[in-house]
Amino acid sequence: MKKTTKTIIRKKGAEKIAMLTAYDALFASLADAADVDIILIGDSVGNTILGYQSTVPVTIETMVHHTAAVSRANPDALILADLPFGCAHFSFDRLLEDCRKLVQLGGADAVKIEGGADMAEKIAKLTKAGIAVMGHIGLEPQQVLKLGGYKKFGKTEEEKAKILADAKALENAGAFAVLMEMTDADCAKKVTESISVPTIGIGSGADCDGQVLVCADVLGLTQNPPSFVKQYANLSDTIKKAYAAYVSDVKNGKFPTA
Ligand code: KIV
Repeated sequence: MKKTTKTIIRKKGAEKIAMLTAYDALFASLADAADVDIILIGDSVGNTILGYQSTVPVTIETMVHHTAAVSRANPDALILADLPFGCAHFSFDRLLEDCRKLVQLGGADAVKIEGGADMAEKIAKLTKAGIAVMGHIGLEPQQVLKLGGYKKFGKTEEEKAKILADAKALENAGAFAVLMEMTDADCAKKVTESISVPTIGIGSGADCDGQVLVCADVLGLTQNPPSFVKQYANLSDTIKKAYAAYVSDVKNGKFPTA
């Protein structure tokens, strides 16, 4: 059965939410076959698949392209598309237009937007316009150039208070869920207990309402995954061996056999 924002909200306190990234129809189908709740077309497509150093170079056109590919798999999972770098900070009309593209052209069920209280007013207007929004706070990877790198958030009292205020502002703005990335586990727990919508964690401890990981990290396809990642397979080795066997068979005339 198709999962909706309502399905996801109802899981809070009842069942943990499992979310994975996918960037194409092939991997979206595989994630959906595992009954994942949410498929995220993350702007991590930039550094995971497209060879960029970060998510910053990813454009709205790239996100629509990959979201549409995932949508063609017709998953039961909720299709969540990332709003890429910069888009949230133009005028509201342009933001609405970019979200419209993700939903109407890409087939997204919902959009994820980095930012907390500073984005609340725009998110309230988007939800009024019928766009389902997941907030993204803690580490916001689109801020990497300003931050000068990636780090954990919510360790100091000041950061804890800001993250809690951001989460509450997003809830009040109508966000159906809040993602916390690289957030101190105690802080993430406090946020989870303090808001009525689900929290999804990545590198933020075990007490969030759900978890998300990048598919390539889960499958063992990335070289140096973050320390919080659990690898469930080592596909990198499997693929390299299969490709090497194919190349060897072609060179030695063992394939094709007729
Ligand atoms: O782009 C992405 O994959 C993400 C996850 C890290 C949550 O936003």
